[in-house]
Amino acid sequence: MMTIDRYAVFGHPIKHSKSPRIHRLFAEQTGQSLEYTAQDVPAEQFQSAATAFFTAGGKGLNCTVPLKGLAWAFADSKTERAQLSQAVNTLAVQADGSILGDNTDGKGLVTDLTANHAIDLTGNRILILGAGGAGRGIIGPLLEQAPHSIVIANRTVEKAVDLAQAFHHKGVVSGCGFDDLQSRQFDLILNATSASLSDQLPPLPDGLLAENGVCYDLAYGNEPTAFVRWGLRQNAAKSLDGLGMLVEQAAEAFFIWRGVRPETRPVIELLNSERQA
Ligand code: ATR
Repeated sequence: MMTIDRYAVFGHPIKHSKSPRIHRLFAEQTGQSLEYTAQDVPAEQFQSAATAFFTAGGKGLNCTVPLKGLAWAFADSKTERAQLSQAVNTLAVQADGSILGDNTDGKGLVTDLTANHAIDLTGNRILILGAGGAGRGIIGPLLEQAPHSIVIANRTVEKAVDLAQAFHHKGVVSGCGFDDLQSRQFDLILNATSASLSDQLPPLPDGLLAENGVCYDLAYGNEPTAFVRWGLRQNAAKSLDGLGMLVEQAAEAFFIWRGVRPETRPVIELLNSERQA
């Protein structure tokens, strides 16, 4: 009997996840036969739900808020980028039955910026707002683009300083509080705080964004987020949200699982047109 390869995204909440739709579009486009579902899994149930999924023959999982740290601990082995970010968004069964943990968020962000939006990060002064799990996952891949420097600003200053310390060996990274941003300028400002989810903004001084600078919110919504609106008020050359990153990180996970790289542009265009409708 033919069995279909099963994949899923775990998270809490998960109702509005676009991942099943994205992976089904990828599967259709590449002629891959697979099933991809969404499962509401609170943190305390993650271990048993993931074990049950893989024991029943599941091939791969995406893990989203609040499970990325738990998925990191769950994986038998980790890629270097997952190890550094201490967060895993993709679990994949290996040939020997062990579970590999990877983090495709940072790669997804960089691909969206560089390939989809033609933004060259070389020599850029980059500011990351937030020092939680979302910020942690993007620092390594951003540093690989040879920016001038990365500053991490966070409400809890100590977390930003600690996070910067973890990446010192990879490039020029420093941590600070929002008060320390007065009279500084950046070419790219990324919002990795969860403030957007409640339509809030960290306190940001005017003049923070350099001329022709770009703003990017890792979060996304049907309406422009508070940070995307801030970027537009600051005359950003582009003020983007994370829909492209979402599709790109999914494409990277799909490649890990299936060995096939889907085309992301038509999927991004479709999702964009749907939210504008
Ligand atoms: P995630 O995994 O999504 O990054 P997280 O680890 O809970 O979630 O981190 C949330 C980030 O958003 C943190 O950097 C948090 O700042 P603190 O470390 O000081 O808590 C930041 N954050 C959340 N709400 C915020 C707000 N209203 N203003 C500024 N920063 C906020």
